[in-house]
Amino acid sequence: MLEQDTAVASDIHPLSPLTPNEIEAGAQLIKSQLGEKAAFCSVRLVEPAKSFLHSYASGDKYARILRFDGTDYPTKDALDGGFNATVNLTTGEVAIDRIANGQAPIGFVDYMTAVEITKSDPGWQEAVRKRGIQDFTHVQLDPWPAGGYQHPSIPQGHRANRAIAFHREDGSDNGYAHPIQGLIAHVDLTEGKVAHLEDHGVVPIPTESGRYTNQDFKQLREAPKTISITQPDGPGFTVRGNAIKWQNWQFRVTVHPVHGLVLHQLGYEDQGSIRSVLHRAALSDMVVPYGDTDPMHSWKHVLDAGEASLGNCVNSLNRGCDCLGEIHYLDHVCVKPDGTARLVERAICIHEEDYGVLWKHYNGHSKSDEVRRSRRLVVSTFHTVGNYEYGFYWYLYLDGTIQMEVKLTGIVGVSAIADGEERSEFAPLVAPNVASPIHQHLFCFRLDFELDGTMNSVYEVNTEAEPISEVNPDGTAFAARATLLRTESDAKRNADTTKARSWKVVNDQVKNRLGNSVGYRLSPHAIQTMFAREGSQMAKRAGFAKHNLWVTPYDDSELCAAGEYPHLGEGDGLPFWTEQDRNIEKTDIVLWHTCGVTHVPRPEDWPVMPVEYTGFTLHPVGFFDRNPAINLPGHAKHQV
Ligand code: CO
Repeated sequence: MLEQDTAVASDIHPLSPLTPNEIEAGAQLIKSQLGEKAAFCSVRLVEPAKSFLHSYASGDKYARILRFDGTDYPTKDALDGGFNATVNLTTGEVAIDRIANGQAPIGFVDYMTAVEITKSDPGWQEAVRKRGIQDFTHVQLDPWPAGGYQHPSIPQGHRANRAIAFHREDGSDNGYAHPIQGLIAHVDLTEGKVAHLEDHGVVPIPTESGRYTNQDFKQLREAPKTISITQPDGPGFTVRGNAIKWQNWQFRVTVHPVHGLVLHQLGYEDQGSIRSVLHRAALSDMVVPYGDTDPMHSWKHVLDAGEASLGNCVNSLNRGCDCLGEIHYLDHVCVKPDGTARLVERAICIHEEDYGVLWKHYNGHSKSDEVRRSRRLVVSTFHTVGNYEYGFYWYLYLDGTIQMEVKLTGIVGVSAIADGEERSEFAPLVAPNVASPIHQHLFCFRLDFELDGTMNSVYEVNTEAEPISEVNPDGTAFAARATLLRTESDAKRNADTTKARSWKVVNDQVKNRLGNSVGYRLSPHAIQTMFAREGSQMAKRAGFAKHNLWVTPYDDSELCAAGEYPHLGEGDGLPFWTEQDRNIEKTDIVLWHTCGVTHVPRPEDWPVMPVEYTGFTLHPVGFFDRNPAINLPGHAKHQV
């Protein structure tokens, strides 16, 4: 890694997104050392250290450093995990490391190579012919990460994946309606061959169409009436570069190749000064473990962020379809395998939403009816990872509430099953002869709190029924009790709806007008942890999903819950770091929150599932002296 010591003065903010010129200049410098074989998977800005960002003022000197991950297999030394290259654009310095613990994420080149290798394998061709397909043009191959379940015939350290297949009637068909059951190609990308072909026998390919565009339906339902959302006075937020201000909120926003949508330096203006709330808030990794025992699915647990670079899969959004109202978009730039820049226009959507009633009271004595409407600022992105889509929506509210909402949609994983073979507890039917395995989507958000500074602590708050006593003779009393979490091992906690459990971050050095420490509460939704058992590959490689809460002391090398390179790795990240059992009391802490859904597929999820939601909410708890939106101007009453 390069140091940020050599620097030039710059007017570009250190958290400004990468430009196409920066990416291409950096990639060229790397290719001049690695040669044309270098294929890039992703690029990111190496975010400057927290201490630097705290004191940064416009014009200060700093070095602009980019990190590229990529592959250049096959290499002579058989270390095909790929490379990690940092480039100091200010000095032109390049540092290249081979990745040893895990591998570079799956890249476009891996996909294309796996498809080519598999389609030209005679054994695979024969197996597909046996299933009644003679022409492979419209056979769709989906290469999946093989992490944790790499076939024993593939040597350790080789780049590998597992390709499963679907049959499309033509170029525009939805292949997921026609799974080619029982066939898995274990692809050794380093050797350039199918190392092993798993064939569990022929199951007829389901025939019903899974097409879903308007042209695919003879008759469409009646369309809802036109709705238009206008702001005649223009939007209430301002955007300068990637810095956004709205009401009392201010922050910066970027897209990271692994973490996707990132909020930086989120603060709230209170009585004339900016109070920091979060230094950085984003997804850190996620996993989709499958529960089905069917060999087509039993190994699946893709880490869509760390292994598949979720941030690179960010969509270009469309006004009127993805977003309604007065929208401001920000573009995002990724790197193509060849080192040229790929511009994703309109990647980040920023807009305001009316959110119903914020507060209200009708005073029957004075007949006064005071109502204020809630408004939220929405900052969002959508990502397509294979068959699924994930939307990430940060909401900032007028009363200091912060919310993350994940929207899950797209096409569920499928199996073809013969008539009468349904195993509904593992894989319910979603269409004739199409079953969809039970699975989870577990998202680990990294919340680098900075409540009025970095000296923060975390309490768990449980509400419990009081024992019957002199003061509680009827057994009706209950109380909310806060317990300080002192070390990392104290802080491995799970949600408990029976105790209305929440976790509260406080700063003991800053008191509100009532004399209590200022705080923010993480209110988990009704969520689960990972069902895969302790000791399993899934639990080992995505250990962050075994708890809803983790707390660590801030360390700038700890950004990814499953480690920097989970792809084909053997486990890293939170469970390993927290073995140190470090102190987390009155220090700079990071909260890690795993939330998600357990998805038991239903016919209504087919052929494209309606959005399902998960996420969490952060509420100010004594951070303010009173309802911070009490002085919001009311609206003039309109005639009914
Ligand atoms: Co799902």
